[in-house]
Amino acid sequence: MPMSITFLLILVLLASISSCLAQKEATIQELRLAFKENRINSRRLVEFYLGEINKLNPVLKGVLEVNPDALYEADRADRERAAKVPRSLVGLHGIPVLLKDTIATKDKLNTTAGSFALLESIVPRDAGIVSKLRNANPYVLSATPCGSSSGPAISVAANMVAVSIGTETDGSILCPASFNSVVGIKPTVGLTSRAGVIPISASLDTVGPICRTVSDAVYVLDTIVGFDYNDGEATKRASQYIPPGGYTQFLKPGGLKGKRIGVVRNPFFVFSNGSNLLQVFENHLDTLRLEGAILVDKLEIAGLNTILNTTASGEAVATIAEFKIAINGYLKSLVTSKVRSLADVIAFNQKFVDLEKTEEFGQEIFLAAEATNGIGDLENAAIANMARLTRDGYLKMMVENRLDAVVTPGSNISPVLAIGGFPAISVPAAYNDDGVPVGMCFSGLKGSEPTLIEISYGFEQATKDRKVPTFLA
Ligand SMILES: *[C@@H]1O[C@H](CO)[C@@H](O)[C@H](O)[C@H]1NC(C)=O
Ligand SMILES: *[C@@H]1O[C@H](CO)[C@@H](O)[C@H](O)[C@H]1NC(C)=O
Ligand SMILES: *[C@@H]1O[C@H](CO)[C@@H](O)[C@H](O)[C@H]1NC(C)=O
Repeated sequence: MPMSITFLLILVLLASISSCLAQKEATIQELRLAFKENRINSRRLVEFYLGEINKLNPVLKGVLEVNPDALYEADRADRERAAKVPRSLVGLHGIPVLLKDTIATKDKLNTTAGSFALLESIVPRDAGIVSKLRNANPYVLSATPCGSSSGPAISVAANMVAVSIGTETDGSILCPASFNSVVGIKPTVGLTSRAGVIPISASLDTVGPICRTVSDAVYVLDTIVGFDYNDGEATKRASQYIPPGGYTQFLKPGGLKGKRIGVVRNPFFVFSNGSNLLQVFENHLDTLRLEGAILVDKLEIAGLNTILNTTASGEAVATIAEFKIAINGYLKSLVTSKVRSLADVIAFNQKFVDLEKTEEFGQEIFLAAEATNGIGDLENAAIANMARLTRDGYLKMMVENRLDAVVTPGSNISPVLAIGGFPAISVPAAYNDDGVPVGMCFSGLKGSEPTLIEISYGFEQATKDRKVPTFLA
């Protein structure tokens, strides 16, 4: 998946600067209270984040564009709050949100997935989750070059924005969340609409929050879930999982009590020799037990070696064919665009991008995708293989051990969750000997978000392991 290269680049940048931040780790609940008590308004909040972006983004490069109408929208939010318009008193109203640049916005922002080929393209409408967000708040920013969600994660971690939205096919929310000591929720596929999101795979893609706390991420999740006509089949199927009253009710003390959590050690608890991480994660398992969870230790996922090898599982074969179909559909749907098909994008890159000099790792994947020809025998066999691996592996382990969730360090479990369409939450948990953050990943079966929220919130409240970045060399 097109993830690791920009991601590593950003880590290097992070490690190479030293500056001091006036930290503002404000949460949504704190911001809402501050609005209510007139200690801050949306304009001042947006001005603060724009200032942080100006200061930090030249180095961090988490933000690609800022909505030129941000202050105008902030003023509108402030007027609505002053007039006590009902929607201004709930949810994310007046709080700026940062979107990964794969998520379409029908306004002055470009939606490019970091590709010059899509600059000046015009999208037909807001992405499904963006119209849900607009009903709750004016959002501001658009972020990140490349297919991972590192831009949102970096920007939230560095307090350049309050909350953000990323997308995941295989690991692109969970991995940057883990590496940046922030909370990422990868929702069950279909729980959030993918309409208007530059796609990779219709069966694997999902859209979710990346925030500083579990609570913030859950407020954002609550706003963006639900049926969307333009992603009808998947969002209809998953909407059965949305609990009456939404997700914030699961942010409660004692959420770990009685939860059966599986521990898959092999290979996820294997750390490099001498690393402090093994002890840190053992301590975390003790904390889960102390908080009342029942750990079912030393479980194995059958077929795991095959699942973690995306060539062997069928994930690569299916995804690359689905990508061609999905990206062609997206490009055709644009109102105007220089490129109308994957073939056009490849030709554009060949003509205008110096493939030797830039780290244009996408082109090889594009060529492989272009060579596919729909969902044929090979792809159907790959899809059937993934379904079998899921049934005989993760699903069987969960059911046989009556598990509520599985706990694993980092995000290496992401292929298991990708091929199953399963949800997960990554919570800040540890720092390796070089100070690089590592998250704790709680995953579960489709629709298990309420339980995962209870567990993640319980773990976060018991550990509070997020440290604000100091950008030390
Ligand atoms: C969108 O891209 C065009 C072309 O590069 C640029 O002029 C414009 O400023 C961009 N829009 C925003 C909101 O940054
Ligand atoms: C781990 O490192 C220690 C000392 O640094 C060494 O003695 C030991 O053999 C190593 N273990 C493995 C499994 O490599
Ligand atoms: C992954 O699977 C493919 C196909 O089964 C195989 O050729 C390759 O060697 C495997 N890679 C690893 C690292 O095991």
